Amino acid sequence: MTNDPVPHHVAIVMDGNGRWANKRFLPRIAGHKQGVDSLKRCARACDARGIRVLTVFAFSSENWQRPVEEVSGLMDLFAFALGREVPQLKADGVQLRFVGDRLGLSVRVLRGIEEAEAATAANTRLILNVCFNYGGRWDIVQAAARLVQQGLAVTEAGMSQVLALAHVPDPDLVIRTGGELRISNFLLWQSAYSEFFFTDLLWPDFDEAALDLAIASYTGRQRRFGKTADQVEFHANQSHSS
Ligand code: IPE
Ligand code: IPE
Ligand code: MG
Repeated sequence: MTNDPVPHHVAIVMDGNGRWANKRFLPRIAGHKQGVDSLKRCARACDARGIRVLTVFAFSSENWQRPVEEVSGLMDLFAFALGREVPQLKADGVQLRFVGDRLGLSVRVLRGIEEAEAATAANTRLILNVCFNYGGRWDIVQAAARLVQQGLAVTEAGMSQVLALAHVPDPDLVIRTGGELRISNFLLWQSAYSEFFFTDLLWPDFDEAALDLAIASYTGRQRRFGKTADQVEFHANQSHSS
């Protein structure tokens, strides 16, 4: 017994923009610009395949350590892309959510985030979570601190309610492009039982065919959540016959 044909929630570490640009003797920011187009294509493709939640890693807590020109280029691109893309995303039924530490973001970026979230809040077709100034460790710490502040016990169930992705179920499939085999402080808590798919393709080159390969790989696997294969088969047969 294998998985549903399509994962409900796909999360992606969009890595490889810089190398995509380097290969073409272009500045790194050109790769990031191409990365925005790749994200638009990917969101449309996810929607067309019946995926209901897409979570992408756009800027990590650690990415502030990059050269100052690259960081400011990324901030400008982010604000610009938000302004340009929101009307279409709104028309397409996409609900945009920004996940990450908002402290330290400029007023311009914050305003873009707030406007985009407000404009698309009523949409239900596809939830697009953009992890920006996000780190898995930050997320776990902010969640635990919130529970403590509210005088609540730090339990797994309680944590799941205050983590940054509390509005969606955990990702079924986590994809990383760019060839690196690491998590880089992405969804540390939420990916506890996700299936992983790594591809050498650089993010700007990640297209529909690549998404289909990742989905097919996911579909062919058996998720056991700690149980034995026999137990999983047995439960699947029970639910089919009831
Ligand atoms: C990922 O691409 C995008 C961000 C981290 C903002 P990179 O910029 O890390 O691309 P490479 O890994 O240098 O190719
Ligand atoms: C992860 O990519 C972060 C994003 C894609 C936003 P990095 O390029 O920052 O990861 P490392 O530094 O190679 O681990
Ligand atoms: Mg990288």
